[in-house]
Amino acid sequence: ISLKPHNSFGLPAQAQALVRIRSEAEVRRLLGDRELGTQPKLVLGGGSNLVLTRDVQAVVLKVEVPGCRVVDDGPEATVVEFGAGESWHGAVAWSLAQGLPGLENLALIPGTVGAAPVQNIGAYGLELADRFHSLDAVDLVTGRTVSLDAAACRFAYRDSVFKQPALDGGLAGKSLITRVRLRLPKPWQPVLGYLDLARHFAEACIAQPTPQQVFDAVCAIRRAKLPDPAVVGNAGSFFKNPVVSAEQCRDIIGRDPHLVHYPLPDGRVKLAAGWLIDACGWKGKTVGGAGVYEKQALVLVNRGQATGGEVLMLARAIQESVYGRFGIRLEPEPVVV
Ligand code: EPU
Repeated sequence: ISLKPHNSFGLPAQAQALVRIRSEAEVRRLLGDRELGTQPKLVLGGGSNLVLTRDVQAVVLKVEVPGCRVVDDGPEATVVEFGAGESWHGAVAWSLAQGLPGLENLALIPGTVGAAPVQNIGAYGLELADRFHSLDAVDLVTGRTVSLDAAACRFAYRDSVFKQPALDGGLAGKSLITRVRLRLPKPWQPVLGYLDLARHFAEACIAQPTPQQVFDAVCAIRRAKLPDPAVVGNAGSFFKNPVVSAEQCRDIIGRDPHLVHYPLPDGRVKLAAGWLIDACGWKGKTVGGAGVYEKQALVLVNRGQATGGEVLMLARAIQESVYGRFGIRLEPEPVVV
């Protein structure tokens, strides 16, 4: 089975089989299957944070669990629950339409609800972890359903227990997320700390934006900067924004005064990887079928017929030149298979 239609980068790869999962019972049925149950498994949501570099020696479980509902409406927050197969952006829009704002900064992020906790999606000053309540997942060995709270998910910047290997006590490849519950605090307060967003409302002379206005602004900013995966294959940011010591940051600013950097509460500094890559002259470059997006150097794109190998080759060349000039090792952000 071809996985090309199932990954937003549009990379070619084959899998032994693809099984659609619409409920927990269907996971257990698969685990009990004499032929497929014991095979290695790859859990797939929207495939929008994935780089496939070769054929997959596994059964692909395509998560399509549906559902959007309010599970608790208390005085301090509303808890909403989504099936893991719902589109993330659809879940954000559904909440807003129910008069339950709180997710609008995360509008238009590609992929599914079930994939959102895996890499702790974040944008415009908000992370999934800030709105997370709990999730249900099925253990792919025992078939048992477990519920995890935020602490158990070990959220960090673009990271969670679902990306961490078993060796470090992680759950990578070990479970399938079926449902996610989010906590939307009352009263709603806009999150406008991110520069692009603050600037947008300053220019529009809006002091107190509504949830809908924040939603619209985030959509507009993203559309201007990021390629639509339905048109140009990509997996969003290809590298994480690196964190360095204050000393290393000062050192770089000494040579490159325009370095884009954000001080963190712990004294360290986060650097804009897009700026570092841009400064090395990569924006708009092409290597084989892979390229660096014209409007945002942090995003690698499929120019048409790219293979995963070509994407990784381009990524390595970028890593080398950023290391050569700044002494910083960029770490890939998507899951590389
Ligand atoms: N910049 C450049 N040149 C470039 C790209 C960026 O100079 O080619 C500069 C920009 O001018 C800006 C700074 O770098 O001052 C940061 O850029 P931007 O605001 O576009 O955000 P980012 O750091 O590149 C991060 C997330 C995105 C998220 C945005 C908005 C990571 C790895 N990426 O990107 O998340 O949407 O902030 O919050 O943290 C993703 O994870 O896939 C993703 C798209």
